[in-house]
Amino acid sequence: YLFVIFSYIFFNFKMALSSVVALGTNIICNKIPGLAPRQRALCQSRPDAIIVIGEGAQLGIDECQHQFRFGRWNCSALGERTVFGQELRVGSREAAFTYAITAAGVAHAVTAACSRGNLSQCGCDRKKQGYHDREEGWKWGGCSADVKYGVEFSRRFVDAREVKKNARRLMNLHNNEAGRKILEERMKLECKCHGVSGSCTTRTCWVTLPKFREVGHTLKERYGEAVQVEPVRASRLRQPSFLRLKEARGYQKPSDTELVYLERSPNYCEEDAATGSTGTRGRLCNGTSAQAGSCDVMCCGRGHDAHDYTRAWQCNCKFHWCCFVECNTCSEKSQVFTCK
Ligand SMILES: *[C@@H]1O[C@H](CO)[C@@H](O)[C@H](O)[C@H]1NC(C)=O
Ligand SMILES: *[C@@H]1O[C@H](CO)[C@@H](O)[C@H](O)[C@H]1NC(C)=O
Ligand SMILES: *[C@@H]1O[C@H](CO)[C@@H](O)[C@H](O)[C@H]1NC(C)=O
Repeated sequence: YLFVIFSYIFFNFKMALSSVVALGTNIICNKIPGLAPRQRALCQSRPDAIIVIGEGAQLGIDECQHQFRFGRWNCSALGERTVFGQELRVGSREAAFTYAITAAGVAHAVTAACSRGNLSQCGCDRKKQGYHDREEGWKWGGCSADVKYGVEFSRRFVDAREVKKNARRLMNLHNNEAGRKILEERMKLECKCHGVSGSCTTRTCWVTLPKFREVGHTLKERYGEAVQVEPVRASRLRQPSFLRLKEARGYQKPSDTELVYLERSPNYCEEDAATGSTGTRGRLCNGTSAQAGSCDVMCCGRGHDAHDYTRAWQCNCKFHWCCFVECNTCSEKSQVFTCK
């Protein structure tokens, strides 16, 4: 569901960029299906940001697909082309990962756009500009990435879709926050030397964003260590107001950077509309690997088909005086496997 919205924003809005001005943001923002009221309001007041948000969501989706390329679940859900069929309905680890990486992706993209000067209401973080770090002996300079702005923007937009007051909302909000927190923890310091021929008599330093791959990698680790939680109601009739670790002695809250899930994952072997599983039929698998992406695991015991193909390329090229190049054709037989 989320993916569809953001893909829609991303692809249609890039094209519609010029018509935003011509048509007015009212019409454009009303055309995006599935926006929560507060998201629609933000779209109308900040049309420049909405394009960056689309890019951020795409960043998250691409990274998700990369991290899970060898998994039975490959980051897609059934109903890709409909607005409401897309969200993983089960409050699983996989849902936790998609929320965290999307929230982090939006924060990353917005922060990067601020640094590039592409958004009207933000820029570099210059609060510490000119100050010295006494202990380390360097000075703040350059363009520090304003990750606080990016995170706050992600909070305002991404979190605004949680309109139902249920346990799933608490789960989603926690994972959104965890994704953003992990981005913040990964921010880096970059420095540059000054002085005669780079003698480094003075140094200036600034904060930069990490590569998003690094965020994806960390989130994938957190996915592996995700904890199951259950909702706690403040009083008997109230809506759930907290999450606590399931099967913990006493009362224990999950930590800020832990991913949390409510329900166990399906095995993603078969197509199942109820869970959103696409199944693994037709997926490429590795016939020799014993672990990541192996046919045994990927195909869930259904077996696999082998497809032979021949790869050909030019090789052993020689230059003859003068002037032509003569090559041989080399070829290699290859096999790929797909799940039955
Ligand atoms: C962002 O700014 C760069 C130049 O600073 C420009 O090339 C690029 O097209 C801008 N992107 C958007 C989405 O406005
Ligand atoms: C994920 O797997 C499904 C089922 O095999 C396939 O239809 C879909 O294209 C795959 N998605 C990606 C991003 O590889
Ligand atoms: C299959 O797995 C093996 C061992 O993990 C690896 O060396 C090989 O590159 C993989 N093949 C493909 C096609 O991914």
